[in-house]
Amino acid sequence: MSEIKLLLRKNIEKVKPYQPGKPISEVKRELGLQRVIKLASNENPLGPSPKAVRAILKSVSELHRYPESNCFYLKRKLAERFNLKEDNFIIGNGSDEIIVLVLRALIDPGDKVMIAEPTFLIYEIQANACGARVIKIPLRNFRYDLKRMKENLTPEVKVVFIANPDNPTGTYVTEEEVKEFMENIPEKTFVFFDEAYYEFASTLPDYPRSLQFLNKRNIIITRSFSKAYGLAGLRVGYGMGRADLIAYLERIREPFNVNSLAQAGALSALEDASFLKKTLETTQEGKAYLYKEFEKLGLTYLPSATNFVLVDIGRDSERIFQQLLREGVIVRGLKPWGLDNFIRVTIGRREENEKFIKALKKVLRKGGKR
Ligand SMILES: Cc1ncc(COP(=O)(O)O)c(C=O)c1O
Repeated sequence: MSEIKLLLRKNIEKVKPYQPGKPISEVKRELGLQRVIKLASNENPLGPSPKAVRAILKSVSELHRYPESNCFYLKRKLAERFNLKEDNFIIGNGSDEIIVLVLRALIDPGDKVMIAEPTFLIYEIQANACGARVIKIPLRNFRYDLKRMKENLTPEVKVVFIANPDNPTGTYVTEEEVKEFMENIPEKTFVFFDEAYYEFASTLPDYPRSLQFLNKRNIIITRSFSKAYGLAGLRVGYGMGRADLIAYLERIREPFNVNSLAQAGALSALEDASFLKKTLETTQEGKAYLYKEFEKLGLTYLPSATNFVLVDIGRDSERIFQQLLREGVIVRGLKPWGLDNFIRVTIGRREENEKFIKALKKVLRKGGKR
């Protein structure tokens, strides 16, 4: 029997494993803690949308049936909401899946994919899985450097990813910057606007209206039910694109990629305006509190257009991460992104934010020593 390595496709060895945020149950088990809070994966601290939960419970009795393959009702609702057609939408098992589908549809081995560095890790992982050559353009002042990205766009660059707002920085690129970037973009370049945090940023006056490019350029815009709608565990996201693109993506997706509970939940979440409002208010209040506390501690943070904040703790973040775990607080240390002194904290409920700050103060007082 030959070693499995020898059977792998050429690029698979290059693919780094994705490390998700640590689950609460794991930290409780490993550290013997009773109370643990998770501020590590940019989840909604209020729980799931209550309307979504009711709809999910109602649809449980139909679990013996396969789900609607085409997500008809969800597409119809989204089409009404954004004044588009149903065939402008693809629904994914999380917006992550749409990243995979687009790369699978567009990338031949050796094609170039442009990403920022650092940014959302999945772009590089999935581009490598497709055999792409990944070009990385460093952030400038923790923001996407669209000028430099544009300068480096050659006709071989097939796909460019723009996370807007970005993860892990929480920064965003503006309408003006995006317009300039999209002007005279090479015909064959496809732009992927990842707007997983759209709901948190869309009220900013200079946040781009990416839909304006939908019928003019080769683009897709993805959004998620995982964040503002509190449905990360269900796995639903959507992509908006020209109907011809969407039709090809539909050909290669699994027939039942979005389960029936996810479809029912997402559909009702879209109608849960009061939950969305409360989520945005909680985020705003929490953000203001964290900014204030970071300032008091003399820590530099990045103003965020999302539901998380990146903060420079001025010392090895892995150590601080481990010490915060022992205090029952899970955040994200940013070493995997190359930001060795930074942690990323998801904005929680008031008591969670307070617990985090209390723990951080304690850990910093100890000087981050073990
Ligand atoms: C920038 C960005 N894009 C996409 C996703 C994936 O979200 P989903 O849960 O919809 O797959 C995330 C999740 O953290 C993200 O931060």
